Amino acid sequence: MAAPSKPTRIGLAGLAVMGQNLALNIAEKGFPISVYNRTTSKVDETVERAKREGDLPVFGFHDPESFVHSVQKPRVIIMLVKAGAPVDQTIKTLSAYMEKGDCIIDGGNEWYENTERRAKAMAELGLLYLGMGVSGGEEGARHGPSLMPGGSVEAYKYIEDILLKVAAQVDSGPCVTYIGEGGSGNFVKMVHNGIEYGDMQLIAEAYDVLKSVGKLSNEELQSVFSEWNKGELLSFLIEITADIFGIKDDKGEGYLVDKVLDKTGMKGTGKWTVQQAADLSVAAPTIASSLDARFLSGLKEERVEAAKVFKSGGFGDILTDQAVDKKKLIDDVRQALYASKICSYAQGMNLIRAKSAEKGWGLKLGELARIWKGGCIIRAIFLDRIKKAYDRNADLANLLVDPEFAKEIIERQSAWRRVVCLAINSGISTPGMSSSLAYFDTYRRSRLPANLVQAQRDYFGAHTYERTDVEGAFHTEWFKLAKQSKI
Ligand SMILES: *[C@@H]1O[C@H](CO)[C@@H](O)[C@H](O)[C@H]1NC(C)=O
Repeated sequence: MAAPSKPTRIGLAGLAVMGQNLALNIAEKGFPISVYNRTTSKVDETVERAKREGDLPVFGFHDPESFVHSVQKPRVIIMLVKAGAPVDQTIKTLSAYMEKGDCIIDGGNEWYENTERRAKAMAELGLLYLGMGVSGGEEGARHGPSLMPGGSVEAYKYIEDILLKVAAQVDSGPCVTYIGEGGSGNFVKMVHNGIEYGDMQLIAEAYDVLKSVGKLSNEELQSVFSEWNKGELLSFLIEITADIFGIKDDKGEGYLVDKVLDKTGMKGTGKWTVQQAADLSVAAPTIASSLDARFLSGLKEERVEAAKVFKSGGFGDILTDQAVDKKKLIDDVRQALYASKICSYAQGMNLIRAKSAEKGWGLKLGELARIWKGGCIIRAIFLDRIKKAYDRNADLANLLVDPEFAKEIIERQSAWRRVVCLAINSGISTPGMSSSLAYFDTYRRSRLPANLVQAQRDYFGAHTYERTDVEGAFHTEWFKLAKQSKI
């Protein structure tokens, strides 16, 4: 294997799909890179690919020592391995050959506390550490991902020039920024993924309503989503959804999407997002509903049995067979999807803000929206509106009350309600759209029925309550008073 004539600029360990593509991307931007993987065939494969894709400066190593030593000092090595134990193992292998001031970057979907634990352990060895969210899948890694590096600022500075070139480029600049201290990069990536769950669920509901109630064919769905992708919904996920409806089955008649088993997989970042929301007392019903929808989708056999039970009771799949005005329905669903999306992002952003306050990270929500504009899975024209909302007011309590978003929601709310009502009456579950609407209807009301819940709590548990008119904590002997009034 050709050795580099001088030290390379950076190293990358872990040459599965993401690692391989990110290495080629870095090399293509003019930074000679050393690559390593325990499975040496992966190394050779990557080097050969680099040759094929334009003789890129990728140098492969079969042993960790010569790999680490091939990188210029202070050394920076990106790891792209499975989260958890493999990360600890790789750190152990690499750090044995690293020196004070060198840096390791974890580019995986790691739990943020693991990053903080490792950063501490590394600091004791005099090594720097970054946890960097990388989004965009295979394609993004190769041609421009969205990057969310958090941890040591010093380490970030070493490689800022590389990251600025490697990241996706959009009108407002490269899709990367220094996120903040500690595990903030991983945390932000985690919420990004939670938001991604929400987006996918909302799109799936739009599909279900259009298909099951509107009786749209795959061809029609493809043209609807392609049309939507020219307007306010323009985004990667809408684009690929349109593509999916056009793919014919290669193993039989019809379209492939109809043959795909209705059982969604997951890897954990969505679950973590919902757990964090609960820990921080932040309402995230849209994201939570998308997670629940995945859990229920997993019960395929049970659902098939349940369908039989209810069918024998005269309860079919779709409850009403009312004729719908297709054109009107399509327009309503588009608006419902957009309004729901605003609620979902409001929840994700508020979760990030709550964590930032707890940890003192000082995260800038507008900057996050900016680096999500390109490269990542949730990239969308919509994110520019979010960025602008935070530019207008960095302390915005909730995206819903930004004047622009408030106006957009008001314009769309009747269509949104029509879609949710139609779905409910038809027996089509739309948990994402319904919970988004409930989130909006709860947040916008100055008075909620929480007074009654508080009275109940004071009744049975003497938890006390506050009053609307007088300061202080009050307790009432509700039971005694009720008994007296009964007599
Ligand atoms: C090397 O490749 C294998 C299989 O692709 C992977 O499981 C492993 O974690 C990789 N990383 C390192 C650093 O060896």
